[in-house]
Amino acid sequence: MVKKVGIGLLGLGTVGSGVYRILTERGKTLTQRAGVDVEVKGILVRNPAAGRRVTVEGGLLTTDPERILNNPDISIVVEVLGGEEPARTYIERALRAGKTVATANKEVIAKHGVELLGLAREQKVDLLFEASVAGGIPLLRPLQESLAGEDVEAVYGIVNGTTNYMLTAMDKEGLDFAEVLAAAQRKGYAEADPTADIAGHDAARKLAILASIAFNTQVPIDKVYCSGIEEITAADIAGARELGYVIKLLAIARRVEEGIEVRVHPALLPQGHPLSTVDGVYNAVMVQGWAVGTLMFYGAGAGQMPTGSAVVGDIIAAAKNLFSGLRGQPRVGFAPGVPVIPLEEVETRYYLRLRVVPEPGVLGVVTRLCSQEGVELVSLDIKNWGQDSANLIIRTQRVKEKAFRGALAALRKEARVHEVESYIRLEGED
Ligand code: HSE
Repeated sequence: MVKKVGIGLLGLGTVGSGVYRILTERGKTLTQRAGVDVEVKGILVRNPAAGRRVTVEGGLLTTDPERILNNPDISIVVEVLGGEEPARTYIERALRAGKTVATANKEVIAKHGVELLGLAREQKVDLLFEASVAGGIPLLRPLQESLAGEDVEAVYGIVNGTTNYMLTAMDKEGLDFAEVLAAAQRKGYAEADPTADIAGHDAARKLAILASIAFNTQVPIDKVYCSGIEEITAADIAGARELGYVIKLLAIARRVEEGIEVRVHPALLPQGHPLSTVDGVYNAVMVQGWAVGTLMFYGAGAGQMPTGSAVVGDIIAAAKNLFSGLRGQPRVGFAPGVPVIPLEEVETRYYLRLRVVPEPGVLGVVTRLCSQEGVELVSLDIKNWGQDSANLIIRTQRVKEKAFRGALAALRKEARVHEVESYIRLEGED
């Protein structure tokens, strides 16, 4: 027998209109497949008269949140407003009112997931957020269900479409940062204020959620090291390509002996690495497990329909839980447990470009200064040997961050080193 469930949407922007389209255009299929008839009972919008991406049945739009949060006909609230507030407050109110919540909001979940999941458990309702990480790519549920028996060793990948689009365009079209940012904004990928994307905050929020699920522990957002792509230049990208690498903004969570490391930063990846060919607005996440080996999840990490698809998956799961009496049994606790290790203790390899005084002996000086700090070099190439300066392109062995910082400080003090032009972590080769 088909069961009816009323849902309320908070927001009808990009993701909200995707959810609405899927529910209305594919409703019959969803009913046949899941045995539930999902009916939208109300949609909170800022301005009912605004132009929309979808045609919405008259009478559903409201500017009054109470029509959703206090509506007894609504059992599932879908939060797709984005941003921290009022989204967090509405989610809390919906949970307190005994409603299940499905959200795409990575900022709210990364910052307030612990309290909100606790509240959902108390209220015996669900809080689902598949769409908050990597848009349409199923990741959180596979990690919690299909990989429930797995000992996850690492999750890493590309989880921000805007920066991946920008780095791809810089690489393929030789454009500089400001030009590609303007293009990304014209195409509607980057936000009007693109800071959260380019400074890595969006990726850091997604990584905090992903790592919390993968390692079944609480990874606080302020423990995620985050460095964006603002300082990546066309010269870095061309230099990387010459050496056989591409530059990507990576989100990495890895289990090590002392705890877990969680970091977002640009990195050089060898051209043959599976993530190196993930271009444009696409996302990809690799999961490394003790038994399963390495898996790769690839697809659209943002956008109306892909993200809408993930939200609708949550709505169906929530409806099934509702009718089977299984609400309020979240598989994730986000309980503190495994410590996040400080960045200084994280070990990785580095690419380093120096501008030096072109005199005999300078290579020896640079090698010695690095070695004194415990940084051993794997390769050292000389470029542009001129009258006043030369470039040295260095790749290091694996080294702890604190040792590398020591080497940087020593190089910056050395008179024969004009400038440390750039340094970028090097991943994907051990
Ligand atoms: N601004 C985000 C991105 C949207 O570019 O990936 C999806 O979270």
